[in-house]
Amino acid sequence: MADTLAQLASHRLVPVVVLDEAAHADGLAQALVDGGLPVAEVTFRTAAAPDAIRAIAARGDVLVGAGTVLTAGQVDQAVAAGARYVVSPGTSRAVVERCAEHGIPVLPGAVTATEVQAALELGVTTVKFFPAGTSGGAKAIAALGAPFVGLSFVPTGGIGPGNLDEYLALPSVAAVGGSWMVPRDLVRGGDLTAVRDLVREAVALATSLRPDVRDR
Ligand code: 3PG
Repeated sequence: MADTLAQLASHRLVPVVVLDEAAHADGLAQALVDGGLPVAEVTFRTAAAPDAIRAIAARGDVLVGAGTVLTAGQVDQAVAAGARYVVSPGTSRAVVERCAEHGIPVLPGAVTATEVQAALELGVTTVKFFPAGTSGGAKAIAALGAPFVGLSFVPTGGIGPGNLDEYLALPSVAAVGGSWMVPRDLVRGGDLTAVRDLVREAVALATSLRPDVRDR
């Protein structure tokens, strides 16, 4: 489990993907690989999610997880499809406990000290800080990092090229999630070259912001 979280952190970015059809999954995965970011959080916002995860997991070259997981049943579906990690917008005991049963890392959402403590009590080591932009942004994460030593954050929501630096500058930020490099309309329209280019730009930006990580 720690290995998977370490792999996520090494990429610094987690593309949050909404796939309207599972048939788009392979092309999207190829665009991510070609763009230099073989990571995907495929959200359960569409019915295509389990089949899309299955298709990406079968390739073996993308660190694929399930996002927007709201129920224990969806955890089961995600694990059966081959997801390597689970992300949830909030902290649900049912979701976290089912992930533990499966032995799969989970990143539940938490943006207040009380929510963070609830997640810690469930054995969580990394939380999703969502929605980052409207929950105090990087300043809030820095403030929470003071009492919660050792806790890692993956901020998501309202982050893009214009403010990525604020988040990646924080030592408690393991990686930053976002949809800006995988726009739903481009994926739906099959414009995978444009997706690849956005992914490349995001990777180049993240690398330029953290040269220490690039060389690790
Ligand atoms: C998520 O679920 O992580 C967010 O919807 C992604 O937020 P963004 O679209 O603002 O990047």
